[in-house]
Amino acid sequence: MSLIDFKGQVAIVTGAGRNLGRGYAIDLARRGASVIVNDIDSACADAVVSDIVAAGGKAVASYHSVATPEGGLAIVAAALTHFGTLDILVNNAGNVHAGLFATMPLSHFEDVLAVHLKGAFCVTQPAWAIMQAKGYGRIVMTGSAGGVYPEQGYSEYATAKAGLVGMTRALAAEGKEHGILVNMINPQAGGSTMTQDANPIPEIAYEKSDPDAALAPYKSVAAISPLVQYLCSSQCSQTGMVLAAGAGWYGRVFLGLTHGWAVPGAGVLPELEDVAANIARITRTREHIVPHSPSGEMHHIATRLGLLEA
Ligand SMILES: NC(=O)c1ccc[n+]([C@@H]2O[C@H](COP(=O)([O-])OP(=O)(O)OC[C@H]3O[C@@H](n4cnc5c(N)ncnc54)[C@H](O)[C@@H]3O)[C@@H](O)[C@H]2O)c1
Repeated sequence: MSLIDFKGQVAIVTGAGRNLGRGYAIDLARRGASVIVNDIDSACADAVVSDIVAAGGKAVASYHSVATPEGGLAIVAAALTHFGTLDILVNNAGNVHAGLFATMPLSHFEDVLAVHLKGAFCVTQPAWAIMQAKGYGRIVMTGSAGGVYPEQGYSEYATAKAGLVGMTRALAAEGKEHGILVNMINPQAGGSTMTQDANPIPEIAYEKSDPDAALAPYKSVAAISPLVQYLCSSQCSQTGMVLAAGAGWYGRVFLGLTHGWAVPGAGVLPELEDVAANIARITRTREHIVPHSPSGEMHHIATRLGLLEA
């Protein structure tokens, strides 16, 4: 197996002062990338830069928040000023406010969307201009299992992370012709600082989770980072993927479309009672497809109505 490296490449990792972002920044630098270590916690960002430089790598700290356009511009400008270009962007910075939806202040909702979702926009847009001009780029968004599966107590976080699924897939479609690949990582690493004060939520009756206990000894940043590095590399051939990883397992999360139920012939309009009678067939996931574009869904509908060949 030939070694994959990032020699001559420049990377930005946001929220790189701690845990996952720290690990990604150190690993990218170890394989030759020059790294902008971004974090609003300047002491943490400086410590990561020191670790990288002490190990012979190249890194510069950036303390701007991802959550404003000025911050995003400044983070990307740091890459240009210090290293002359940009090849890789890992949107990893994160925050959370836990609590039930019924009592969630709008400010909590806005805080979390500002860092994860607006933050990804604010940093990616200036990065995109550079990548598009050079015809090459690798962007990794950070999602979460909480953004794709139902969970109580984190609806603002789920909203932000699910929004990033849409951004990942839309940017993948726009980036393809410019050599920009955009994918998402949903990590199961633990060790998060942002959840330290946010868990558990008193109103929720938590179930004892056997899988959580079984995986805990094996969860680590080091088990996630190789997949993120692959997505950052020139060897990556994937785009628009939502990939999940944890404790040494790697897989894909996908949005599928059920076989569904169709009226007996195109043009027949159902009654409400017909829908009610068929709701189990409409929602059953046993047979499904994974469309690659909105027209894939239209093709599925047309074939189910007998208007096109399958
Ligand atoms: N750790 C996990 O198991 C896990 C699971 C699912 C998703 N995630 C996601 O992975 C990412 C990293 O998680 P982590 O566990 O390393 O979190 P962490 O809280 O340990 O680190 C996040 C870092 O982001 C920084 N940050 C916060 N707001 C910022 C801003 N506005 N601008 C720049 N930096 C900012 C923080 O200072 C912190 O150092 C997050 O997006 C998180 O939602 C992590």
